[in-house]
Amino acid sequence: MRNFRLDIRPSSPAVGAEILGVDLSGPLSTEETSEIREALKEYGVIFFRDQELTPEQHIAFAERFGPININRFFQSVSGHPQIAEVRKELDQTTNIGGSWHTDHSYDEAPALGSILLARDVPEHGGDTMFASMHRAYEALSDGLKRTLENLRAVHSSRHVFGAAARYAKDTAGRIGNAELATQDAVHPVVIRHPETGRKTLYVNAAFTIRFEDWTEKESKPLLDYLYAHAAQPQFHMRFRWRKGSIAFWDNRATWHFAINDYHGERRLMHRITLEGVPLA
Ligand code: SIN
Repeated sequence: MRNFRLDIRPSSPAVGAEILGVDLSGPLSTEETSEIREALKEYGVIFFRDQELTPEQHIAFAERFGPININRFFQSVSGHPQIAEVRKELDQTTNIGGSWHTDHSYDEAPALGSILLARDVPEHGGDTMFASMHRAYEALSDGLKRTLENLRAVHSSRHVFGAAARYAKDTAGRIGNAELATQDAVHPVVIRHPETGRKTLYVNAAFTIRFEDWTEKESKPLLDYLYAHAAQPQFHMRFRWRKGSIAFWDNRATWHFAINDYHGERRLMHRITLEGVPLA
């Protein structure tokens, strides 16, 4: 583990760390940027508190870490297509991201990471869970690891963002462009993380539909086993939001789950997603 000059406090043994004493509203030094990048690699998800950034500052912070990927399905913040809204109003029951997933695995070059800034949060609830997919992979038996190394999986956005999908019904005004939910992507089931080189389990219940050259029916039992395995709490942490909190996660190293336990209250988050690379 490397020594950091920033004040970094791990959130759990498996995943996540909070970074204290950095103001993200102004320019960051090269050293601060490099330490934040290293912390993301080390912990999979990093958190900052009390960052009331303007949309321009949010975008400037994100651009220190790579080009922004403009999400084609989420409603964006007015005047800022780079920022997607993750919103649930008082009278809505469906939240966005309310199951274990990783963002954009249906893209051929899945997003590097996402930077979520809390604008309005419920008094209680609305926490987000994170899972280390590196730890989940490491805990598998050698035999299953060997089996998985030879498999690739198909990921899709059709059943989530397409016209017939669950999101199409209760998320009008929040999720759109159903006609763009046409793409599938195939990725290895075990990837080497593009920056750390660590082996990581790369399937998720939201977007993975089957193994390549297997039917959905054949794939389901093994996929379900992997999802149940990675859903064990020793791989997780839970983040309690406050207004101005930021979570910056690596989509190739983690899963996340937005808990939908705050009906009748409003939650508004601003998300910027960073471009990634094809996975090998
Ligand atoms: C997401 O899945 O990107 C949103 C997570 C959250 O709202 O906590």
